[in-house]
Amino acid sequence: MTTAYDVAAIRADFPILAQDIRGQSLVYLDSAASAQKPRQVIDCVSGVYETGYANVHRGLHYLSEKATADYEGAREKIRAFMNAESSAEIIYTRGASEAINLVAASWGGANIGPGDEIVISEAEHHSNIVPWQILRDQKGAVLKVLPVDDEGAVHLDQFRELLSERTKIVAVTHVSNVLGTVYPIKEMARLAHQVGAVILIDGCQGITHMPVDVRDLDCDFYAFSGHKLYGPSGIGVLYGKAALLEAMPPYQSGGDMIERVTFEKSTWAELPHKFEAGTPAIAQAIGLGAAVDYVSQVGMAAIAAHEQELLTYTTQRLASVPGLRLIGTAPGKVSVVSFVMDCAHPHDISTIIDQTGVAIRAGHHCAQPLIDRFDIPSAARASFGMYNTVEEADRLVAGLEKVKEIFAR
Ligand code: ALA
Repeated sequence: MTTAYDVAAIRADFPILAQDIRGQSLVYLDSAASAQKPRQVIDCVSGVYETGYANVHRGLHYLSEKATADYEGAREKIRAFMNAESSAEIIYTRGASEAINLVAASWGGANIGPGDEIVISEAEHHSNIVPWQILRDQKGAVLKVLPVDDEGAVHLDQFRELLSERTKIVAVTHVSNVLGTVYPIKEMARLAHQVGAVILIDGCQGITHMPVDVRDLDCDFYAFSGHKLYGPSGIGVLYGKAALLEAMPPYQSGGDMIERVTFEKSTWAELPHKFEAGTPAIAQAIGLGAAVDYVSQVGMAAIAAHEQELLTYTTQRLASVPGLRLIGTAPGKVSVVSFVMDCAHPHDISTIIDQTGVAIRAGHHCAQPLIDRFDIPSAARASFGMYNTVEEADRLVAGLEKVKEIFAR
């Protein structure tokens, strides 16, 4: 590992990693499902409840003013982290799923008509498939799917062929949660814009693994979940270009999203509040700000470099396990390693290595069409985060050798 990257110091910040599971030190390789939280985030959230909690945007008393300042301060941190132009473009949501549903319902409801085309890809998470299917069915639109190849890569020439003057929106992942493939989203945004379409990026597995600059990418929408970025669950972000968000109707309605309500008519609050009906996840938003501070202090580029070393090492080690097949081998991928073994079902693999203290995920990973495309029943997946080590990759491999041993009996 690089000497500058002090993984031991980072691990010391994550109390959950210090425990034994089933009598052995925990090896947590399920960060793509949900990442663990550093002490700085945990303390921030409990600090909100201990000394700084009240409802936001509503009170004239000290605690409400403090909670509002901290809540809006977190929004500004997130803006800077993504390099959005204005914090009005940062909408708090419950997570990426809600963010994508917001765009499908609000932007899609206003802009999609019969025969209009929506382009997604074969490696999308269900959260970036189902909202578009519902919209398609409501509007009589057409859903087109960009394929992935056998390595899990997507090809721009195929993408270009899918686009037409009927394409209204492209909704693709930044990074596949199963394959680890990094999509060429900057180029995809350019091509989508050439046909007059907008582009939404599901950034759940992107913003956790690399620096993201939404202005450089020139994407129209970028969605992510806080809990995968070492922050609390129940909070996520929709970035949207201000001009698009301004023109969109509200998604949910109620308190805090209005300017004026009478029985005849209501008018909407300014961005971002137009899209934030009801009392929000206050402590969680502030906690996400603390998570952004934490990863920014370590540096997303440094995290990416560390994870790449882990990926290279793990991929080499897994190549030595007979009967193991990697699912997702595209060049430039991130540290998400899915695989199947000829001796055991992924659920058995996960259950057996759990007995050795190693936590991975097994299943369809909320991407059933992709699992079908690779013609497998499900996959095992080890996903590495900023706190993982080469020794943990060795523990994964040792666990898999145990799986082979058990099934050879
Ligand atoms: N979407 C999450 C995953 O990939 C839950 O595991």
